[in-house]
Amino acid sequence: MIKHLIKKAIPKKLLPKVKAINFILRNKVTYAQDCLYTTVNADFMNDARFANAYAKGRALMLESWGDYQFHWRAYVACWAAQKASGIEGDFVECGVNTGMLDRMIIDYVDFAHLPKKFYLMDTFQGMDEAYSTEAEMKRSHTMGYVDVYEQVKKTFKEFPNVELVKGPIPDTLPLVPSKAIAYLSIDMNCVAPEVAALEYFWDRIVSGGVVLFDDYGFPGHEQQKTAHDAFAAKKGVSILPLPTGQGLIIKP
Ligand SMILES: C[S@@+](CC[C@H](N)C(=O)[O-])C[C@H]1O[C@@H](n2cnc3c(N)ncnc32)[C@H](O)[C@@H]1O
Repeated sequence: MIKHLIKKAIPKKLLPKVKAINFILRNKVTYAQDCLYTTVNADFMNDARFANAYAKGRALMLESWGDYQFHWRAYVACWAAQKASGIEGDFVECGVNTGMLDRMIIDYVDFAHLPKKFYLMDTFQGMDEAYSTEAEMKRSHTMGYVDVYEQVKKTFKEFPNVELVKGPIPDTLPLVPSKAIAYLSIDMNCVAPEVAALEYFWDRIVSGGVVLFDDYGFPGHEQQKTAHDAFAAKKGVSILPLPTGQGLIIKP
């Protein structure tokens, strides 16, 4: 009876939110970071190999942005890279910044011992005015990107199969000589360069190769999602929206 009265007193619009809060209060929250709050199993958090890899990337983050927890997103990238490490083709990341995710991946899949190259593509100093809208440039300024090229060179100098490709995408795309790509990560936070990279690399991505979109489902990144969905539809594939906010394609 009381339950019924409470339910009646709550405006219909708020009911799903109240139900969600009630569910969270009654169940053990297993994960609460990076816009994702859930009670489902998160055992990967206890995986020592992942924890070591995450720590390598986190150290870079602490040097630059400060601390931000995003374990599940990082785990998805490590999982995708692990899958890609077993097939023919190189790795490419478009949008590297300090190389936080890439440093994790390199550790997780032991990239130094793979017969592959990892191309890290970035201006290494934020978005490029020529290829970004005014709104995107505003975001770039808010993010406070600084010149990180020397720092990134230092981070990856111990890995001879990692190559930095400095400059704005799309200009630098022809500098990646790979004919086969197994892992493509897209994380530039701006539409035109992301689409240009997809267009350029798509035919080189091998069957079973992975495309990972970092910002796909995040609030404020709707234009990227719209553009990537249109690209995917044109290629006859669909992007899997992940609860982490990422998007994933495994190329048929
Ligand atoms: C969100 S950060 C990438 C974060 C990174 N994936 C990580 O693991 O920390 C976005 C990066 O995209 C880069 N970027 C933006 N527009 C670009 C363009 N047209 N060409 C190359 N890099 C670009 C910026 O310099 C910035 O470092």
